Amino acid sequence: MPQQKFRISRYDPVQDRAYEEEFDVEVTPGQTVLDALNLIKWEQDGTLSLRMSCRHAICGSCAIKVNGQSMLACQTQVTVAQERADADGVVSIGAMGSQTVIKDLVVDVTKFMNQFERAQTWLQPPEGQEPPQREYRQSKDSFDHWSHASSCIHCGACYSDCTVAEIDAKYLGPAALAKAYRFVMDDRDSQRDERLAMLSKSGGIWDCTRCYMCVQACPKDVLPMDAIMELRTEAIKAGKTSNHGTRHSRAFAGGVKKRGRLDEASLPVLSAGIRPGAIPELLAYTPGAIRLLRSRKLFAAAKRHGASKEGRREIKRIFDEVEDQKHHSDMDAVAFETLHQEALKAH
Ligand code: SF4
Ligand code: SF4
Ligand code: FES
Repeated sequence: MPQQKFRISRYDPVQDRAYEEEFDVEVTPGQTVLDALNLIKWEQDGTLSLRMSCRHAICGSCAIKVNGQSMLACQTQVTVAQERADADGVVSIGAMGSQTVIKDLVVDVTKFMNQFERAQTWLQPPEGQEPPQREYRQSKDSFDHWSHASSCIHCGACYSDCTVAEIDAKYLGPAALAKAYRFVMDDRDSQRDERLAMLSKSGGIWDCTRCYMCVQACPKDVLPMDAIMELRTEAIKAGKTSNHGTRHSRAFAGGVKKRGRLDEASLPVLSAGIRPGAIPELLAYTPGAIRLLRSRKLFAAAKRHGASKEGRREIKRIFDEVEDQKHHSDMDAVAFETLHQEALKAH
């Protein structure tokens, strides 16, 4: 039978030692990465630590990194892992990212789980309402809107691969935000407005960089990034616009529509807003602005990438078309138009 070499990142907490170890496993048809890891544990090294329970992509406990990408070990065929193996043909296995490793492939999930509590991901019916005799009923429309977000199995694969969670522990992360979206869209919940206000703050929906990693990693098609983008639209429609993220997107879109290019010189000022509280935020931009000025990138980029008159007309046409589509697709066209008008005025 063919053999496959696995390179496993290990961690020994007793000696505080991180190291890599290689194991050969006989590959059999239908074998999953979890099967292979169990064979290593049962037949070669009983000290290898990993988490698993259901072996059917239900419990979410076996998420690990396979060739650098987070996924469920029990849902990943060895043959699929082989296609993404390192250049030397070795399949690399490691613990999930953005969480502290306890031992080998086992991480401390406390930080990840705490994000759900911070995002208050539980139903909050109107206060004082008598609980119903049976369940709280919901409409089909409401359920259809968020049902994909309720498929989350809390495996943490999205959080592990999220480029923002990696550098910012305050960020709620894709899974908690997708779950928050599920309650914002639930017509039985009474806290929609409060939730949108809370999610619009630092660490929430506006910190996502739209890198798409969470969508790629999710084994249950929860589509966390799409949920975050929809939360942004809902937040703007609900008037939660006094924040850096909204100002930034307005300035970004307004600049492109007006000049045909991203205006990096005015973007920080417009994102921070013309207000007394903006001074610390603007000061934080200063070192980066000095670096750009010194390297002459700021104005050179403007010269190089400025659109021609004809190009600007085309960009405006695209904006008009998108806004028109939004009008006809039952979105809040008034809020959308106001947003762009304000952005245009700001320039
Ligand atoms: S799209 Fe947003 S939430 Fe998803 S991984 Fe990227 S930064 Fe994180
Ligand atoms: S959103 Fe997907 S990847 Fe993230 S925890 Fe839930 S099931 Fe796992
Ligand atoms: S063991 Fe339960 S999801 Fe993999």
